[in-house]
Amino acid sequence: MIYDVEKVRNDFPILSREVYGKPLVYLDSAASAQKPKKVIEQIKEFQETDYANVHRGIHFLSNASTDAFESARKKVQKFLNADKQEEIIFTLGATDSINLVANCLGENFFKKDDEIILTVMEHHSNIVPWHFLREKVGVKIKWVDCDNQGNISLNDIKKIVTDKTKFISITQMSNVLGSDLPLKEIIKFSHEKNILVLIDGCQGIAHMQTDVKDLDCDFYVFSGHKLYGPTGVGVLYGKHDILNNLPPWRGGGEMIREVKKESVTFADSPSRFEAGTPNIIQAVGLGAAIDYFHSKVKSGLFDYEKKIAQYFHNEIQAVNKVKVYGEENLSSPMISFTVDGAHPHDIAAIIDREGVAIRAGHHCTQPLMSFFNLNSTARASIGMYTDKNDINLFIKALDKAITFFD
Ligand SMILES: Cc1ncc(COP(=O)(O)O)c(C=O)c1O
Repeated sequence: MIYDVEKVRNDFPILSREVYGKPLVYLDSAASAQKPKKVIEQIKEFQETDYANVHRGIHFLSNASTDAFESARKKVQKFLNADKQEEIIFTLGATDSINLVANCLGENFFKKDDEIILTVMEHHSNIVPWHFLREKVGVKIKWVDCDNQGNISLNDIKKIVTDKTKFISITQMSNVLGSDLPLKEIIKFSHEKNILVLIDGCQGIAHMQTDVKDLDCDFYVFSGHKLYGPTGVGVLYGKHDILNNLPPWRGGGEMIREVKKESVTFADSPSRFEAGTPNIIQAVGLGAAIDYFHSKVKSGLFDYEKKIAQYFHNEIQAVNKVKVYGEENLSSPMISFTVDGAHPHDIAAIIDREGVAIRAGHHCTQPLMSFFNLNSTARASIGMYTDKNDINLFIKALDKAITFFD
């Protein structure tokens, strides 16, 4: 099947707008992806026809809303190839999911001096919750460096694992370098050592096939808004046995079995971890996004993205004064770069005036910035709607910015 990017672009209303009188070139999908009409319309339609609170009522609408919410959970389950619906917890986003895991494991699982392994490429969302545990419980965080291309091998991990290592929390795809890691090997080795593994799938979910059963990870997290869905919803996948042995984190309605004046018992997963009225509308929107995304995967999205990424890398690496980080990874959907003699923020600001949206800063990865001896980079990232014209307009704008600093 031929992937028809121009047809896909027509599904995204925002792409037809202009900024500063120029056509919008959106190259910031790694920060947040734009939304297709199907998702926008489904969210509207759900609120116009089936919305009510879930799980609580016996009236018609409450049942319709519960069906829509639970059917979104089912879609996530199938999409990730999880065994059971109960393994899918709706959260506010990947950050919330990781905080949930860190808090629920907490002092019940970790003792002082236990070790957690992180890579130097992790997003702050996959660092700070573990720092909280370091401060609270006294766990040690051990770091695995990558090479200059963002690669990490199983050997790098083996070198720092000890008898005290209890947990590895690792990205599926770096949000700066776009590199992906040998996760299956790492997980297999970790399990032989009784180490649990969490995969941060925030970027990987949108660019590669993900199968949690095949990976055999213990936890997997992602955010809906990077998968062309709404903000305010994310997913925590956890193995059923592990989830049901974790205590809850937040308390409130829906997460209990019984509340008495002197005691409380808790519901099983997923309710145990979804206290209060959940993000019903956003979850339904995520379900629609998954349907849409899945249809594009079937029509060759991943191959298309690889080709467009290669085109992008070839074009940008030919520009004078530009240094790309992870330049050997030619199919990376993220391109982080610096320009000799110009601050990344200035580059981003100048090309913004040409209608081109990219990101500049530390990308919530300060340990990785330190590794490269940098404070910031500019980052252009592609999505399912990125075409050659976007890249050509970006290169033209970049040339203009570079000339400005000459
Ligand atoms: C790799 C990675 N992990 C975690 C996050 C945090 O996602 P959110 O802010 O949606 O919770 C991001 C967001 O950029 C990311 O790229």
